[in-house]
Amino acid sequence: MQRRSVTRTWFLMAVFVSQEIFTRPLHHQGSRLRTADGGEDVDGTGAGPVVVRLLTEMHHSSCSVVVITDSHTSPATILKELVEEGAPGGLVVLQASGGGWTSNTTEDDLPHLIHQARQVRLLWSCVSVVVVSDDLAFLASFGEWSLRGRLLVWETRALAVTRLTLQEVHALVTTHWTFAMMNTMILLPETPHTDLRWNVYSHLPYGRGGGQLVKLASWSATGTFNIQASFVLFPDKFSNFNRAVVNVTALPYKPYWMTVGNGGPTSGEATVTYSGSDRLLLEAIASALNFTIHVLPVKSWEEVVTLVEERVSFVASVVHMMLPQRSERYGFTRSYEHGVNLAFGMSKPSLKPRWQSLYYPLANDVWLSILLVLILLPPVLYLVTGGSPKGAVVGVGSAVEVVVGTLLGQGFPRHVPRTTSTRVLLGTWLVFALVFGTAYRGNLIASLALPKYPPRPENLGQLVKVVYRITMPSYGAEFRDFLRQSESPSFRAMGRLMHVGVSVLDGLQQATRDKQAHVDGLRYLEQMIAEHFTRADGSTQLYVGREGVLPGLNAWPIPHDAPYKHAFDRVINVVQETGLYNKWMDDMLEKARQEGRRKRRLQQQVDSLGEVGANRGGARALTVVHLQGPLLLLLLGLGTAVLAFVGEVLLRKCRHPRK
Ligand SMILES: *[C@@H]1O[C@H](CO)[C@@H](O)[C@H](O)[C@H]1NC(C)=O
Ligand SMILES: *[C@@H]1O[C@H](CO)[C@@H](O)[C@H](O)[C@H]1NC(C)=O
Ligand SMILES: *[C@@H]1O[C@H](CO)[C@@H](O)[C@H](O)[C@H]1NC(C)=O
Repeated sequence: MQRRSVTRTWFLMAVFVSQEIFTRPLHHQGSRLRTADGGEDVDGTGAGPVVVRLLTEMHHSSCSVVVITDSHTSPATILKELVEEGAPGGLVVLQASGGGWTSNTTEDDLPHLIHQARQVRLLWSCVSVVVVSDDLAFLASFGEWSLRGRLLVWETRALAVTRLTLQEVHALVTTHWTFAMMNTMILLPETPHTDLRWNVYSHLPYGRGGGQLVKLASWSATGTFNIQASFVLFPDKFSNFNRAVVNVTALPYKPYWMTVGNGGPTSGEATVTYSGSDRLLLEAIASALNFTIHVLPVKSWEEVVTLVEERVSFVASVVHMMLPQRSERYGFTRSYEHGVNLAFGMSKPSLKPRWQSLYYPLANDVWLSILLVLILLPPVLYLVTGGSPKGAVVGVGSAVEVVVGTLLGQGFPRHVPRTTSTRVLLGTWLVFALVFGTAYRGNLIASLALPKYPPRPENLGQLVKVVYRITMPSYGAEFRDFLRQSESPSFRAMGRLMHVGVSVLDGLQQATRDKQAHVDGLRYLEQMIAEHFTRADGSTQLYVGREGVLPGLNAWPIPHDAPYKHAFDRVINVVQETGLYNKWMDDMLEKARQEGRRKRRLQQQVDSLGEVGANRGGARALTVVHLQGPLLLLLLGLGTAVLAFVGEVLLRKCRHPRK
């Protein structure tokens, strides 16, 4: 409790002081060795003027400064020095208490301080961090906790002020990401016990000769500040990797990342070549930033991102959706693709035999009017011909025969009277029958060849109503958690139905048999269905839902606050805005389609060798499914005829009982 209150006091005081800072002029004086209250050598930094000079050098506009010190350095001295020298911007001084600075002591309150400093960084637009200590363990602990507490991002400039020896600094820098990779400089006196001359160092992880600690500038007691030729303060460490090897992790995920060639990951990199749109993007980044790609061998998607979290792999260079659950574990590059990401594949609904197939080609009212005409026309014909003086009178029965026969296109009776009225009437009827018959036949053929499929689920809301199981590969666990926490009823329903850990081929195979769906990346699903579930005639048993499952942004996982994010993002931005990424994606899909067509053609050749003449040309035969209607009609007709025949025989027997 006491420690915490100390911290708070300094915080308040610093904010109070910062009101005055703006009014003070910036002035430089010679370096002074200050001794603080206790009079011991360790207290003051003596680096006040240099620090202030660096701070003003760093920012053209005023930035706020967070100073973090250990318990041996007097914050009052630091504050006094910085304020006297006219530090720009606001100032926050945080002093850690406690003794041992190993990263696993729970005694120290450094994590708490880091948390406070982080709040300051998040609140203010521009913040620099200055850490002051002569204690190697404290600096190491700062390195550790600032990484865990997510204190620094690349935009936050950090300065470590210390009187350690160069060797100690070297050891610190090579073992701690915060000093090695982040935007950190180290200020230390040239000789440990005099503060007359200070040097500014920075670790360049990808310098010309590999990782090295370089001296960027020096500051002498007379107040002259020399920046070494060809260097700047806070150099950009990631604009040129100088052909260094950069570890990445990825697993094949068509069409984003594919392995071409015969070697597995174990048989050495040399035999494996990669392709895919994300691979091309990574190669573009590698050539722009001048690094060599090294793909680490991994076994699972979990390992792909775990290595990123552990900062062994710099980037998981395969498309990942930016989920809130995921961003708790790792960060993301700039998003380079958005739209439908996840889609579902399931089997197409099959056609049920339908006896109504003869009826479907025409609408109800058309059938009704035909019926009406068939009832009205025979009496009219009877009347018209009956009125003629010389023509043979047509009976009602033959009038019906004429009308129905011509409608069905079954010949024309020769004994029709030759009166004008009859001719006009029959001519009109014939033209109508021709047009009607053609229209009906045409529509019948079309509806038989391209039958109307029953409605199928095209979006998530419809999907969750019809399936009882949704499968997804192992990476789906994160999606399941996300969906179960969602407020949307459809998402929650999907989360409940979801079974994770089923590979795409198994999932789709099961989907062909049961009422279930498999969820995976849209383009991946399309590709797998095209490759593995396409029949020789080009049709597929499976389809991909049109509206997808989960739209969102796609990016690559990188470690939290990765310092090279801005460098990667810049290239990704250029590639995406020039339309290159879409072009690569189109190329990949086109290539896959060509490959699929080639395979199918080969398969067809093999098949046609096997069964000569069967199903040649890919034309589809009509089945009972299509022709059930006519067959039923025929049976009905035959049945009626038999009944009529039996009736006639019985009737004759009744009329002539004696025979
Ligand atoms: C953590 O503490 C244990 C003993 O308390 C010690 O052996 C170990 O080296 C410490 N680990 C680190 C990283 O300091
Ligand atoms: C890439 O790095 C190598 C090695 O340092 C260097 O020789 C080369 O000039 C660099 N290429 C570019 C384009 O910067
Ligand atoms: C890259 O991976 C190799 C192991 O394959 C490892 O030895 C090396 O340290 C890694 N590089 C970085 C920067 O983590």
